[in-house]
Parts: sequence; C-alpha cells; structure tokens
Amino acid sequence: LSVVLGLDAPFTVESHARLDSTNRRGRDLAEEGAADVVVLANEQTSGRGRLDRTWEAPPGGVYLSIVVRPDVPMRDAPLFTLAAAVATARAAREQGADAHIKWPNDVVVPRDGTSYDKLSGILTEMQGEADRVEWVLPGIGTNAEASTADLPEGATSIRAETGAVDRRAFVQRLLEEFDALRENLDSVVPAWRELALTLGQRVRVETPDGDVVGEAIDVERPGTLVVRRDDGEEVRVNAGDCEHLRP
Ligand code: BTN
Repeated sequence: LSVVLGLDAPFTVESHARLDSTNRRGRDLAEEGAADVVVLANEQTSGRGRLDRTWEAPPGGVYLSIVVRPDVPMRDAPLFTLAAAVATARAAREQGADAHIKWPNDVVVPRDGTSYDKLSGILTEMQGEADRVEWVLPGIGTNAEASTADLPEGATSIRAETGAVDRRAFVQRLLEEFDALRENLDSVVPAWRELALTLGQRVRVETPDGDVVGEAIDVERPGTLVVRRDDGEEVRVNAGDCEHLRP
C-alpha cells in the first residue's frame, strides 16, 4: 500500500483517507503480530490523546501510528516516544517549520519568551514484560494543512508556518528518521537534546507524586527529565505534564 503514496519507506504503509484512530488500528495489527507497519490517515473520527484526552483530528492532518517490535527491555520503551518526536521535528524542519521538542514529546514552534504553539502530539502505547517489549506503537498527529483559524488556541500547522506542505516528503522523512533512530538507540537522547525547547527553562511538572518546580537541566535515558529545584536539589521525573514558566 505504500505504493499508493509513492513512499519509499522502510515500513509497510497502510494508508486511509479516514479512520477512527490510527492507534486503534495499529493496536489491532500489533496484537495480530504485525511488525514495521505504519497506519496513516488524513482524518480521524475518534483520535486519542495523552492522559485519556481526545485528539481533534480534522481532514488535512497527518495522523500515523508505527508498529514496531524491538528487542529491548521495557525500561527502554520510552526511547521510541522520544525517537518519534525527534523524527517528527526533523521532518517538520525539512518543510521549513522552526520545530522544537517540549518534554517529553510535543513538537512545538517557539514564540516570544516562554510560549510556543503545538505542531504535533504523540501518544505511545506498548505491551510486553519487564525484560522484553512485545510491541511499541508511537502514534503521531501533526497539523499539516489547517489554517490557524481552524485550529485550537495554542496550535499551529506546517502550512501556517511555511505557507505550503509536502505531505509525501514529510511522511517519508519522518519514517526514515525514525528508522535510523530505532536502529541506533544510543543516538536518541543526544538527538532529542539538540531539539529541546524545555532544557534551560523554568518548568512545573505535574507528577503523580506532586508538582516539581525548577530549572529543567537535562534529559537522561530513556527520557527522564532532570529538574534542579530552587533549593538546589536535582529531581528526576519520568512522566508528567510539563509547563514552561516565566523566569
Ligand atoms: C497528545 O495528547 O498530545 C497526543 C496526541 C496523539 C494523537 C495521535 S494522531 C495519530 C495517533 N492516533 C491516535 O488516535 N492518536 C495518535
């Protein structure tokens, strides 16, 4: 089916004009044993977001989910989410957008001061045992064609940033970058650092154990954010919602 798009990708691409959710379809394929398959759609009727939110997915977006079966322990699974963010940011940069990454995996375009507009969101699902991942499914939603008037507050699109979008080239580059990163997992965190908007910023991260406030000073494998609190103590955060604060 990748032929339909003229893609020369290291994955089999299943392309749909419209789907309920590429993650839902990707999950079904993963449970059937699929590997290296990409589910792509131009529109989703019930897109899934992080933290049980819904994800608005009108026509003109690039919605895709990648089914991979890496031979790694579960603790490395977050690297695939970071890799998806790096691959998406690089592909958006090739289109001309000033894409950066907000921890852990939002692709954003920075504005004045500490603000930014969101270009892509990523929701990764996974299954496996502690010592071995069975499958990982990063699902990436990118606003591509929409004008800012049609997007929610705080969102932007490739077209809004650059005036044009080449969907085929965007998907192709994203998949090539993702493929190279998953083949060299040691390169993921350094690549992420180079695109990070969050590092050096004052942040508040909401975690299940309470809020952590301080300066984001580093990201460590497999995606842990290191925050230096005002009392000087360094706190490591593995998951949570991150807000950039004014200094
Ligand atoms: C977020 O909340 O920021 C993550 C949004 C992830 C949306 C993408 S669109 C492609 C894939 N399929 C889904 O249903 N969700 C993800």
